[in-house]
Amino acid sequence: CGIIGYVGDRPACEVIVKGLKRLEYRGYDSAGIVTEDGGKLFIRKGAGKIDELTGKLGFLEMPGRRGIGHTRWATHGVPNDINAHPHTDCTGKIALVHNGIIENFSEIRDYLLERGHSFRSDTDTETIAHLIEEELKSSETFEEAMRKALLRLKGSFALGIIYADEPDRLYFVRNESPLVLGIGKGETFAASDVPAFLEYTNKVVFLDDMEYAVITRDSWVVKKLETGEPVEKEVREVEWTLEMAEKAGYPHFMLKEIYEQPRAVRDAMHGNVDAVRKAAEEIARYEKVFIVAMGTSYHAGLVGKYLFQRLANRVPIVEDASEFRYEFENVIDEDTLVIAITQSGETADTLAAMKLAKRKGAKVLAIVNVVGSMATRIADLTLYTHAGPEIGVAATKTYTTQLAVLTMLAIELARVLGTADDGYLSSLVDGLSRVPELMEEVLKHDASLRELAEGLAGKSDFFYIGRGVSVPTALEGALKLKEISYIHAEGLSAGELKHGPLALLEEGVPVVAIAPSGKTFEKMLGNIEESRARGAFIIGLGDREELGRVSDVLVQMPPMDELLTPIVYAVPLQLLAYHLAVLRGNDPDKPRNLAKSVTVE
Ligand code: G6P
Repeated sequence: CGIIGYVGDRPACEVIVKGLKRLEYRGYDSAGIVTEDGGKLFIRKGAGKIDELTGKLGFLEMPGRRGIGHTRWATHGVPNDINAHPHTDCTGKIALVHNGIIENFSEIRDYLLERGHSFRSDTDTETIAHLIEEELKSSETFEEAMRKALLRLKGSFALGIIYADEPDRLYFVRNESPLVLGIGKGETFAASDVPAFLEYTNKVVFLDDMEYAVITRDSWVVKKLETGEPVEKEVREVEWTLEMAEKAGYPHFMLKEIYEQPRAVRDAMHGNVDAVRKAAEEIARYEKVFIVAMGTSYHAGLVGKYLFQRLANRVPIVEDASEFRYEFENVIDEDTLVIAITQSGETADTLAAMKLAKRKGAKVLAIVNVVGSMATRIADLTLYTHAGPEIGVAATKTYTTQLAVLTMLAIELARVLGTADDGYLSSLVDGLSRVPELMEEVLKHDASLRELAEGLAGKSDFFYIGRGVSVPTALEGALKLKEISYIHAEGLSAGELKHGPLALLEEGVPVVAIAPSGKTFEKMLGNIEESRARGAFIIGLGDREELGRVSDVLVQMPPMDELLTPIVYAVPLQLLAYHLAVLRGNDPDKPRNLAKSVTVE
């Protein structure tokens, strides 16, 4: 979900609607706004997309110069008009919006029901408004009541709170769900993500867990939720321009972000030369290495495993963070190093896995895109991917930049450990520096991939196969397709094909074969033949002529070291998924049921 708050001299509704549109990618089944004017709160909310709701509910006609908006991605209660945020207490003077989940909400609800409160919605959020109302009865100030109430909550939350009787201020609270302040001149903002207010200011203050901010038009203060004491905070300047965060002429953010990859990968490499050296020295000290991540970042972790294995003779255990956090407690200790990969730095499971690792005394290294995000604050050491803001829900440039950083890390680790031939490592470094050019080259396949997609848009199952370092590439290709085109897809190691999935192959089923030159190329040809024999439609990705002979369509890739293929081969797979999504009438930037950053478990 997304939160945006504003206090200043502009009509609050205008700033909020713009902010909501920029946050829509975080969750978008419903939205709502509260503003205040003359000591009275105005609330409009409903199920649907921001644009529709803006017209239908007249968001832009709401009075007042302070207010809070919210886009929702349902966790408690179905997406409908009543469950949309903001929610209020019985008096209608307290209104709030919330991201996250309150775990002890039924307990709190029972407590409040006993005290005569009645609820309009099914949400955990509404209980918070009533709890503050309840605490207000025995508190001197609203702030004190809010603190007391929030200290009773268990779970993750970011909140924006407004109280009608206090004319000048807004409250924002963070616990395990992102929140950042924007500091302007005579106006102050708060949001779940920087692009929401970047048009107005690039001066930001990141809140940490269990902190809250009180903002007015010309002041801000951050305090500890526990004690109410002020905390010193650093004002940072973010370098992203608004243009960077907008579509720059592309029909979708996803396409723009696919095209930005050569630049992003170059920045990831240039920005990490020294940092990677330091990190590799740290990793070299540990025998026991885990990589934890979710989704696309998890696939980057799998590529990392092949790179570490091949170059540095180290076999990290790659686990999805949601498993790691519950299953690995007894094997983590001070001799463990955990590498967490997360573009947002806010994925709930990944943060929980990192916290567990810290608690057990392990060293934690994070690979993150969003500066100042929670993961960077938990980690002992952070490598930034420098991809710039990624708005499309399906990860593209954050994935390839993660891969660039992991490749540098593996090369450096091999150097430190002396596990690979120096000449070979230097040639790999050279090859990596040419990867952005190779990406430019494969982007030229865009039009032919669109043509290919036209013939495939009616298919209902895809298979992606690869071997070695191309196994994660196959998994990621399939994930991209599922996420945005809603076509069922499976990614697997080509060797596994015979052990079940082959039974599903029949006339015309597309099989995407990731088959670069390398030690298992011949084996791949064998697997492709097996699939062809069952009538599969083969889309080959590779650099060898022989592949063309066994493929129905060949996506011609430039030659490169096999270990560099995951970065470059990701590009045509992203484009194929993108075109299929668009041809099927889907919005690739906002796939149904998915959110950019999953900040709840
Ligand atoms: C969500 C996104 C994915 C992303 C995953 C992990 O599922 O839709 O694109 O890969 O979260 O996100 P992270 O920010 O931790 O990399």
